[in-house]
Formats: sequence, structure tokens, C-alpha cells
Amino acid sequence: MNNIEITNAMTIKLSSELPPAPVFEEGIRRAPNRGLNLSKHEIITALKNALRYIPEELHEKLTLEFLNELKTMGRIYGYRYRPQGRIYGKPVDEYKGILAARALQVNIDNNLDFDVALYPYELVTYGETGQVCQNWMQYQLIKKYLEILNQDQTLVVNSGHPVGIFSSHEMAPRVISTNGLLVGQWDNIDNFKKLAAMGVSNYGQMTAGGWMYIGPQGIVHGTYITLLNAGRQYLGIPEDQDLKGRFFVTSGLGGMSGAQAKAVEIAGGIGIIAEVDYSRIETRHEQGWVSKVSDNLNEIARWMQEYKKTGKAVSIAYSGNVVDLLKYIDQRNIFVELISDQTSCHAVYEGGYTPAGITFEEGRELIKENPDKFKNLVDTSLRRHYRVIKRLTEKGSYFWDYGNSFMASVFDAGETEIAKNGRDTSEGFIFPSYVEDIMGPVCFDRGFGPFRWVCLSRKYEDLRKTDLAVMSSLNPNLSALHRDNYHWIKNAEQNKLVVGTKARIFYTDEEGRVNIALKFNEMVRNGEIGPVLIGRDHHDVSGTDSPFRETANIYDGSRTTADMSVQCFAGNVARGMTLVVLSNGGGVGIGRASNGGYGLLIDGSERTDEIIKSALSWDVMGGIARRSWARNENAVKTAVEWNKKHGGEGHLTLPFIVKEELAESLVEDMFGK
Ligand SMILES: NC(=O)c1ccc[n+]([C@@H]2O[C@H](COP(=O)([O-])OP(=O)(O)OC[C@H]3O[C@@H](n4cnc5c(N)ncnc54)[C@H](O)[C@@H]3O)[C@@H](O)[C@H]2O)c1
Repeated sequence: MNNIEITNAMTIKLSSELPPAPVFEEGIRRAPNRGLNLSKHEIITALKNALRYIPEELHEKLTLEFLNELKTMGRIYGYRYRPQGRIYGKPVDEYKGILAARALQVNIDNNLDFDVALYPYELVTYGETGQVCQNWMQYQLIKKYLEILNQDQTLVVNSGHPVGIFSSHEMAPRVISTNGLLVGQWDNIDNFKKLAAMGVSNYGQMTAGGWMYIGPQGIVHGTYITLLNAGRQYLGIPEDQDLKGRFFVTSGLGGMSGAQAKAVEIAGGIGIIAEVDYSRIETRHEQGWVSKVSDNLNEIARWMQEYKKTGKAVSIAYSGNVVDLLKYIDQRNIFVELISDQTSCHAVYEGGYTPAGITFEEGRELIKENPDKFKNLVDTSLRRHYRVIKRLTEKGSYFWDYGNSFMASVFDAGETEIAKNGRDTSEGFIFPSYVEDIMGPVCFDRGFGPFRWVCLSRKYEDLRKTDLAVMSSLNPNLSALHRDNYHWIKNAEQNKLVVGTKARIFYTDEEGRVNIALKFNEMVRNGEIGPVLIGRDHHDVSGTDSPFRETANIYDGSRTTADMSVQCFAGNVARGMTLVVLSNGGGVGIGRASNGGYGLLIDGSERTDEIIKSALSWDVMGGIARRSWARNENAVKTAVEWNKKHGGEGHLTLPFIVKEELAESLVEDMFGK
């Protein structure tokens, strides 16, 4: 076989013309050098892997260029293949192809927008390492496939690599994608890093490789709910009140963590958020998501007292390390009610966590020059970080883990007392995770999750009309959660949450999701709005198995199983979602989660009504079935209600309740007590 035959056998391929040399705009954040951790043989493989996208005539020139990328960035991104200038989610009519394929192109481009993405040149949307695909050659090819995809074909994407288009049928997904899936024995971060450097595996995070990111707004609503419920649960704040006059101290103003500043203000509290990377503070400040900025801890302490007195909501960015902020608070005996952390501990040694004692820039240098020293500093800092949190909780503050693998990283850093049994992590940690205490019982077990939509026209009027439609479908008096949701959607426009495409997030349950989607479909059918793409974060009821996060509140011993997320994925494929994705690692890191999501085109058709009714319902109830089977009280209630309402149409297996004493007394006897 030679390259002439291969060229002739491929009608969809990259051009044999060399694209112009890449131009990098000043001021755009760049990914750090991930380090070259490959053997000689693996480097050769990596080069051959990248070159297989490219016609032979360009190999000689590009081999050196790709080797340079590998040496300076630790990855081959194929910068030259990035389309020049600004990439953003344009109005859907400006793309080529069938509507479903154009809709997905809007989302891919939105994930790479300079205003949205964390490291747009490196195809990283958020979460330090979460990529849309691995390199720009893949991006170009995916686009080419989407432009010619038919109504009865499916594009298959493996870790960003477009495998090809295959004949399917109209009710099948248009794209089925997986990211970073590894065979059990090799399912660990060190192996993954090698595979990523060789260009054969992608860390898709959740909606980065799942092509459904909608900017940090995606997480503001969830953070707002979490903060309000943390206040209710830990501080006894009544259901109809907010966080007025209460302190929330945390870290991170990045992709998702940036939501904390906005959310704490919407929830009425006083947020102090440490951030080591000044450029991220600037971004959030310019957006109006963080109100005050200082690197002076005395000034911050003064602001804290002023705002406490007036009871006004505010978010304050501390430009510095969170460990220093917490130490200051501890030494001055300032009482703070709530503490959390959103450094990127899921990628703790890859730049996600900057250790105390060095600057962000020094940290970046060290990762490149002396990764072992960097790792030691991270471990020392994590241990100090843990100890100061421990002292503050002893003085009455509440700490919870924000699903960023903070507690797992502290444990790995050698502070084993953070594990409940002081030995290993099998019984969890001494502090709750936000899913165990809040998100799990309050939201997921009742089917509430991060439903979202993108108005593909990019018109504000469309978003406004969808907001109003959602508001009119809501009864705020049903529960505290309904009231919080009503407050959220009513103020969404005024809170200026949109970055990138005109999108919205709204936590709602199975019935809510189905009804809202049907309503949108009717509005599209009637010409009131343009087409919409609905989807969700993977951080949801059914889509993700993640023992430190989404499934942290599963107590029947099954939280390390991954059946639910794989079934969710398969069920969504079977029911005809437009885009279906399954990934490894979610927001917690390779090997620690199996996560998936979907996108569904709302095009006004009757066919879409049918998909909404079956797929959206399945997408929530598959998780409720598992959560109720695990005996989670709210999930059992939700499942019982669903069975009563949907008899004949579907049926969930429910757990019989076992008297605690029965099993306990027998087992106590067995152990001779
Ligand atoms: N927001 C949520 O609801 C949510 C849910 C689940 C998990 N998470 C997790 O939260 C983490 C953050 O996500 P992200 O998308 O914002 O990542 P990110 O990498 O964009 O942001 C993390 C920020 O923390 C800063 N940082 C690192 N070390 C620091 C330190 N010692 N002191 C102060 N700042 C420091 C970084 O500079 C960065 O800006 C991830 O691990 C993610 O999986 C968030």
C-alpha cells in the first residue's frame, strides 16, 4: 500500500497545501508545557501518529515542527492547522451541513472561543486539561465530516479522532463520541499522560470533549444551589432566607471555579476567593463576576468587616495563594462560616494546584524544569492547606470538598488522617463532599440536574423568550428548590451570565426537563424562536459514576461501579439523542470517574417530540432507579411517585426496606459481641 492509493481512497481529508504558519495573539492564556515523558520509541510513534492526518508531501516540513511542539509543549497540537483568527460559536446558519451537524459545529466553536476557553490554542476548554479534541488536524477533519454528514449517517469520534462516518438511520445519533476510555489495568493517570502525549487519548473533562460547555454560567446555578443549601444545612438558615452577612472562603476563579464569585453574590453572601493566576482575576473582574480585588490581606479583612456590617452581598478576589488566605484568617481569629476549595486538584501535579510559597509563574517554570521538586512542594502545601482547614473547622467553620479531588490529593500527599478510617479512602473522608451532603440528596436523588440549552441563532431575543417560557412553567411554592430556581431564572438576564453562545442553565427534574424541551420544540415549530440545542452537564443524576463526586452519596457499596453511566450512554444512543458522549475522568481525573452526556437538536419536528419524551425521561430516571436501589430516601420517594404516574409505560425496581437492627444484631453476634 502506498500514499497514492491512500489518497485516492479518501475523499474527506486534509489538503496537501501547507496552511500558513500559526500566529498567536498576545494576551491569550496558553497551556503550560506538559513535560516530555516519552521514550525514544514513543516519540517516534507520537510523530507518526500526528503525521498520519497529513498528506505525505508535507511530512518533511511538519516532522520537525511537530517534534518542536512535543519538546516545548509536551503535546503535538498541530498549531498550524488552527484556523487563523477568532473562533466562536457563530449563528447556526453560517455553517455548512444538515441542521444537526451545524448545531454541533456551533458548540465545538463555542468551546474554543477566546472568551470561553481556558487555553484556546491548545483546544482546552476548561478544567486545566479538558480538551475538545487533541489537535487541530482532528478539529479540521471533524468539521469536514460534519459538513457532509447526512440525516441517516453517524460520525464516530474516539478521543477526538474522527474514525469516520457510518450508515445508521434517522432516529440514530448523528455523533457518538468517547474520550479517554482505557482498559482497566491501564486506567491510571501515568499511562494516560503517555497516551495523550502520543496523540491517542483525550481528556474530555465533561462538556469540553462532550461539546456542550456554555461558559462558567453552566456551573453558577449549581454553585448557587450548593451555597444556599450549605447555609441551610450547616448554619440552620431558614429556607426562605439567603446567605446575608455570612462568609464563604474558597479558591479558584478559573473555568468552573469562577462561578463561585457570581454565585455567592446571587445567594446574598460575602465571598472571599483566592486565585494565584492574576489573568484569571482580571477576566472575572472585567466580566463583572467578581466585585473587588486585592492582594493585601489587611485590606480584605477590612472589607469583610464592612460588608458584614451592611449585610450587602459581595465577592472579593484575593490575589494570592489560598493557603496564605486561610492562615491569615486563622491567625487573626476571623470567624468564617463556610469554607471550600476549587483548585484543580484533579490535575494536582500538572499545574492544577499552585503550592504556597511560590508564585503561579514560578510554579509553571518548575513543572517544566523540575517536576519532582514541584510535586514535593505541592504535597507540602496540601498538607499545610489541610491543617489550617482542620484548625478553622475546630473553631466552628464548615468545610466541604467541592468535587475537585482535594481530599483525595491531601490523602495522596501523605495526610492519611483525612481518611475516615485513617488508613485508606474506602470509607470516605472526614469532611463531606458537596454531593454527599447537598447536591446528592437535595438535587440528584430527586432528578434535579443541570439541564441547559443553546439558542443556535445567537440572538438574545430567543434566549429571553426561552427564559420566559421556563419561568411561566414554574410553581415557586412547591419547595425551597423550586423557589431558588424561580429566583435564578427570573434574575438570569439581569445577572449577565452569558459568555459565548446565548445559552442558559436551569436545574430541573425529569418532568421539568421533558416539559421545557417539548415547549421549546413547539416554539421552534411555531417560528417563535430559532432552533435550540439542549443538553446538560455530565455532573448529573445518571450520566456519571464518580465515587468522590456524583455518586459520593451512594452507600450500598456500589459507588465504584460504572454501570449506570455506561447504561445512560447506551440508552441515549438507543433513543436517538443527536450527540452522545462517554468519557473517562470527568472533573476528578483519569480512572476516578466514568461520565457521559448528550446534545439534542430541538428543530420543531414531531420526531423530536418523541425523542424528548423517551430519551429525556430515560436520561434522568435511569439514575433515579440506581439511586433508589441504593436506598437513598429522596430517590426512593421519586421512584415511587414515578411508578405510580407511569404505570404501564415503564416500571422501576424498588428496594424493600430492611430493619437496621435485623442485620446488625446478627452480624454483631457473628463478630462475637
Ligand atoms: N464548580 C463546580 O461545581 C465544580 C464541580 C465539581 C468539580 N469541580 C472542580 O473544581 C476544580 C476547578 O475547576 P475549574 O474548571 O475552575 O479549573 P481551573 O483550573 O480553570 O481553575 C482552578 C483555579 O485555581 C487556581 N489555583 C490553583 N492553585 C491555587 C492555590 N493554591 N491558591 C489559589 N488559587 C489556586 C488556578 O490558578 C485556577 O485558576 C476542578 O477540579 C473541577 O473538577 C468544580
